[in-house]
Amino acid sequence: MSGTASPGLADLWWAGRVAVVVGASSGIGLATARALHARGARVVLMARSAGRLAGIAASWGEGALAVPVDVRDRAEVERQIAAVAAECGRIDILVYCAGILYLLLADELDERLRDMVETNLLGAAWVTRAVLPWMRAARFGRIVYVGSVAGHIATVGYAGYAMTKWGLRALAQALRAELDGSGIRVSLVSPYYVRTPMLDGELAAGPLPGYDPSAVLEAPQVAEAVLRAARSGARELILAPWSIRLGLLLGQLLPGLRDRVIARMGRPLIEHRRRLVREPGR
Ligand SMILES: NC(=O)c1ccc[n+]([C@@H]2O[C@H](COP(=O)([O-])OP(=O)(O)OC[C@H]3O[C@@H](n4cnc5c(N)ncnc54)[C@H](OP(=O)(O)O)[C@@H]3O)[C@@H](O)[C@H]2O)c1
Repeated sequence: MSGTASPGLADLWWAGRVAVVVGASSGIGLATARALHARGARVVLMARSAGRLAGIAASWGEGALAVPVDVRDRAEVERQIAAVAAECGRIDILVYCAGILYLLLADELDERLRDMVETNLLGAAWVTRAVLPWMRAARFGRIVYVGSVAGHIATVGYAGYAMTKWGLRALAQALRAELDGSGIRVSLVSPYYVRTPMLDGELAAGPLPGYDPSAVLEAPQVAEAVLRAARSGARELILAPWSIRLGLLLGQLLPGLRDRVIARMGRPLIEHRRRLVREPGR
């Protein structure tokens, strides 16, 4: 990674900053890495798919480095982050986008839950711990976690996934307090459904609670919010239609009503799953 794309005046804040994007091979992470690169940041692309990352980095040319990593392996995370810091000299920005989703009802929870916890949540803690010494030394850093509306409301089929996203919110909140005055800011970006390969998988799993196709976000919109959060150090950006935002607010005030609405929204998914058990070929 020998240089950067030439920045415009508006992009000077980003120019030359080293940004590690975890989950950069696809979807929101790829869109975020692309937006950072376009602004002149030096982007480190991390995910498991080594070939994909190498292809992306090669097509962008200077200013992009592909570093394969499986975030479930803490030792590998530490090794790879140390290698990045050694090559780049510092790490200014961490965007943690790695995530997987299995839509599971409570009696379907199995090893896939462990996989979600290790990828969506523990991986975030491992990468954070690995980058912190570099940010502390520079007395500057931006950490942005990509959470989800599911970090605020746990609907039918999303128990396991929501556990990971609530956990991510907890990590962000505690870390923000620990890092107060350090020059390192911690943000959470919590989107509604986003058109990515992950959503394709969700849609195949059955009728999604609260899914409104007309409100689905595009990955570049979320990427721009991630960059806004990184730049401003904003605590949390919730990217969702007003009806969902209002629902989150009302749910705090009227939890009994919220629970009834969640139950009703989830009935089609429960019915769908029961049908699959009765008629496995369908
Ligand atoms: N799409 C939505 O509707 C939506 C809504 C709200 C929040 N989100 C969140 O947004 C984030 C990005 O999701 P997306 O929709 O962009 O999904 P995506 O297109 O499936 O991307 C997921 C990324 O995570 C990486 N990843 C998965 N397991 C990994 C592992 N063990 N180690 C390293 N990287 C791993 C994947 O790369 P490899 O497979 O190459 O490892 C990929 O780059 C996730 O945290 C997701 O929960 C998504």
